[in-house]
Amino acid sequence: MKPCLFLAIETSCDETSVAIFDEQLHVKANVIASQTKWHERFGGVVPEVAARAHMELLTPTIAEALSTASISMKQIGAVAVHHGPGLAGALLVGLSSAKMIALGLGVPLIGVNHVHSHLYACRMSAGRDIFPCVGMVVSGGHTILFDCESALQMKRLGGTIDDAAGEAFDKVANLLGLGFPGGPALEKEARLGSPKAYSYPRSFIHEERLDFSFSGLKTAVLYSIAPPGEKLNLVKIDALSRANMAASFQEAVVDVLAVKCLQALKRTGRKRLAVGGGVIANNCLRDRLATQCSRLEIDLFVPQKDLCTDNAAMAALAVEYWKEQRFSDLSLDVCSTVY
Ligand code: KG4
Ligand code: ZN
Repeated sequence: MKPCLFLAIETSCDETSVAIFDEQLHVKANVIASQTKWHERFGGVVPEVAARAHMELLTPTIAEALSTASISMKQIGAVAVHHGPGLAGALLVGLSSAKMIALGLGVPLIGVNHVHSHLYACRMSAGRDIFPCVGMVVSGGHTILFDCESALQMKRLGGTIDDAAGEAFDKVANLLGLGFPGGPALEKEARLGSPKAYSYPRSFIHEERLDFSFSGLKTAVLYSIAPPGEKLNLVKIDALSRANMAASFQEAVVDVLAVKCLQALKRTGRKRLAVGGGVIANNCLRDRLATQCSRLEIDLFVPQKDLCTDNAAMAALAVEYWKEQRFSDLSLDVCSTVY
């Protein structure tokens, strides 16, 4: 295999990220410019604001990645880009820049699916092959189970019919007044409470279908704060109830995710499980899956913490396309539809 340096761009949501890696998956830079300060006053990601922030942040982020890797643009041999799924305007910023760089340098362009990359982050952290496996992506935009024959062959087994797991964390954190981004804040709050204090619903847990639903859970938390008819903004939650609600909500999400992974492993007969996406940064979920998998002699692969949430290094999935000389052309479009 001839050596090649890749430049990868991620702009699907609210992180502007640029990575440099080689064909051996050695990451030389993975710079992530957070847009939190752009969005926090709105309590969530505003698509138009995200696109504008990417426009401002992308060029300096590319410069920082090249400087961290101590290389010049001329040494880049291929350009990888997440072209979807995600916010259309945000994706367009990264995709147009990637096309321009590839065209200017005369090197291949490789479009990569952001959701598949979240699973490839497990491969990167493992340092060895993880396929074939069952893959679960739990992020702010997606909650999907895959049967993964290889890095390039991922068949969808099921997914959420409403909110994604990360979205539920964010919305419930917001209800509890824990701020933005909600996932890490809710996890911290949950440490102070009891997971058994509230009995929240666990949708589809006794059904064979490999789908998820988190909107009923979110409503159940809402009703435990303010029963139907009462105004939420007039309710004061005491500290213990808030912590108990956070812990009980987290427990319900973890229960559902863990059971659905088991069902998918059973259905496919796979002996390996890979879990990617922002929510797998959650220690309660990591610990539960680790215990469950070791009991059943399943190999569990999760990304190191900095590869869980959105980043460009996970677009090293492009190396697999590059090995097969599967390149994109300049007609590559953004794919903004939910997977
Ligand atoms: O993968 P990601 O960065 O973005 C998408 O592709 O959507 O995931 C972000 C999501 C957010 O919803 C965030 O609240 C959640 O991951 N998240 C967490 C934790 N860290 C991030 N959820 C629960 N516990 C965490 N520690
Ligand atoms: Zn993501």
